[in-house]
Amino acid sequence: MEHRYQQVDSLLQEANQTLEGSDSPYLDCQLILAFTLGQTREWLIANNDKEVCDKQANEFRNLILRRKRKEPVAYILGHKEFWNSRLAVTKDTLVPRPETELLIETVLNNFDDTPRLVVDLGTGSGAIAIALASERPNWQIVGIDISQDALKVAKDNGNGFPKLSWMQGFWGNALGDNCIDLLVCNPPYIAENDPYLDHLGCEPLTALVSDDNGLADLYLVILEASHLLKPGGHLLLEHGHDQQRQVCSRLEDSSFETTPLADLQGNPRAVLARKEIAA
Ligand SMILES: C[S@@+](CC[C@H](N)C(=O)[O-])C[C@H]1O[C@@H](n2cnc3c(N)ncnc32)[C@H](O)[C@@H]1O
Repeated sequence: MEHRYQQVDSLLQEANQTLEGSDSPYLDCQLILAFTLGQTREWLIANNDKEVCDKQANEFRNLILRRKRKEPVAYILGHKEFWNSRLAVTKDTLVPRPETELLIETVLNNFDDTPRLVVDLGTGSGAIAIALASERPNWQIVGIDISQDALKVAKDNGNGFPKLSWMQGFWGNALGDNCIDLLVCNPPYIAENDPYLDHLGCEPLTALVSDDNGLADLYLVILEASHLLKPGGHLLLEHGHDQQRQVCSRLEDSSFETTPLADLQGNPRAVLARKEIAA
């Protein structure tokens, strides 16, 4: 059988045209071709005249068609970098976002490695819990999720951290009152009619969408935190860019002191809240 070959550069140009109109077509093509060939992006750049056989070129084209149907690159590759780790991701987990690293930076800037009980509510792939476990070895960290399938992925990602454990639950329902030092949570906060959801069609809706204009789960977590946290304990919540006012005001009504936080672009994206110490 005759084998045909196509150069790296020409395959990338062809795929780039297929993905025309998407957010970062050329980068996506490079990542997917590097994955197909078992190489790095740097290798591709240095070897753009190397020849690729028909079989691998066709595998690559099939993956590009998945991307064209808006499947996230992370699902195609099976992993995503977050903080200092490469995490496995599947269709059962949200793809961890760079903006969630604001939560990790905030925690590290405010809390030292003194032993604490810390909970990552809605852990998904385990991104937040694992980043914190890698930076704060003395903390007891529990990752909780409603999805058993997401927890399987988180458990595999979190191998090797002895103080990290996992639990299935509806938010913090399974936990006792007044026992947690720090709750970190990136809940679903997109309204069900938000047109942005069209771009996120492949990710689990339970990880993205919440009732009450996206605020229902944020409010539930605030209610739970007011029972679960020790007096003086902290809740760190990620929210949508237009939800900070409502989130702060619900926290203040529940007797939390609030510190609103913005990402590097200045967008209001999180709140650090301290539960009052009763008089
Ligand atoms: C926005 S994702 C965040 C995932 C991960 N923490 C991250 O930042 O990449 C929200 C997560 O909350 C979980 N979740 C949704 N409702 C929940 C509930 N009632 N109790 C526990 N987890 C829930 C979803 O399964 C999903 O993994």
